[in-house]
Amino acid sequence: MKSVKTFILKHGSLYILDQNLLPGRVEYIECRSAEDVADCIVRMRIRGAPAIGVAAAYGLALSIVRYQAGDLEGLRNELERAYKLLRSTRPTAYNLFWALDRVRRRILEACSVDEAKEIALNEAMRIEEEDIEANRRIGLYGKELIEDGDRILTHCNAGALATAGWGTALGVIRSAVADGKKVKVYATETRPKLQGARLTAFELLNEGIPVTLITDGMVGFVMARGYIDKVVVGADRIALNGDTANKIGTYTIAVLARRHGIPFYIAAPTSTIDPGIRSGDNIPIEYRSQDEVLEIGGVRIAPDGVEALNPAFDITPGELITAIITEKGIVRPPYIENIPRILDL
Ligand code: MRU
Repeated sequence: MKSVKTFILKHGSLYILDQNLLPGRVEYIECRSAEDVADCIVRMRIRGAPAIGVAAAYGLALSIVRYQAGDLEGLRNELERAYKLLRSTRPTAYNLFWALDRVRRRILEACSVDEAKEIALNEAMRIEEEDIEANRRIGLYGKELIEDGDRILTHCNAGALATAGWGTALGVIRSAVADGKKVKVYATETRPKLQGARLTAFELLNEGIPVTLITDGMVGFVMARGYIDKVVVGADRIALNGDTANKIGTYTIAVLARRHGIPFYIAAPTSTIDPGIRSGDNIPIEYRSQDEVLEIGGVRIAPDGVEALNPAFDITPGELITAIITEKGIVRPPYIENIPRILDL
């Protein structure tokens, strides 16, 4: 089966694949403005840190390209408005802020409205291309950590759907498979939004990579029974000391991996590393609607009157992370020394 694209730029619009409908339906939403893109990010029609970053970059570019008046000052006001709107969509994934800052900085260098429009779109396209290239390089480094016959546990979805293409954690697995290694993947379903059951299973099935779905609560059991050789997951924000925000449940998996002596790898581009944050304590965590926990697929499962907590991410301390696979190489502890080094800080 052919893989689907996370987004497509066509006839001046950004078409975003509605990931809430997968795997049942493949439908694209036409985005003509920063508002349209922001809405898709908030509703998680597009999700995954690098994908959010690229989509936001295009959202900012669309607001500039569609700017009607001819004055640069008005364009800069429009830029600030769209920039603030897109920044407010989701708080945890650093790629969002990284991409928006990068496009905004470039647009502010323009000396005319026409130049600003050209720069905006080119920069967003460059961010998309660079993300695919970064994922390919993450795959090249990461595949060396994978052995023939490995059984790999992954959480949430850090595949092509979560990026501009190829994927981070799933990119490592894809690259190992492309090298002729036989691997088997255990995918956690990833409550409450079920990215593992709906998206990771969908991607791996399309690629012909063997995948077994487990519920989040089964991780301890499969590790204790010796079913898992390695864990590879993505990241939403990495602090300079290696503390990593990723989908809720990642921390639990890392603790269990340490308990069972299983290597635990993070795969992420350096655009996920926040150079302004030294420790995970300072990473903002998104809390989402209680309904996502109280319901499954829009059907209420909990009794009326019960409250639910819904943090979308947790922090895995750097000390539980065996290595971080980036496009610039594999970073190992001590992270507080080696992460700044890889960022040239
Ligand atoms: O809430 P989501 O679906 O945006 O969360 C996604 C994750 O936690 C991914 O693991 C992370 O963004 C890395 S994607 C390459």
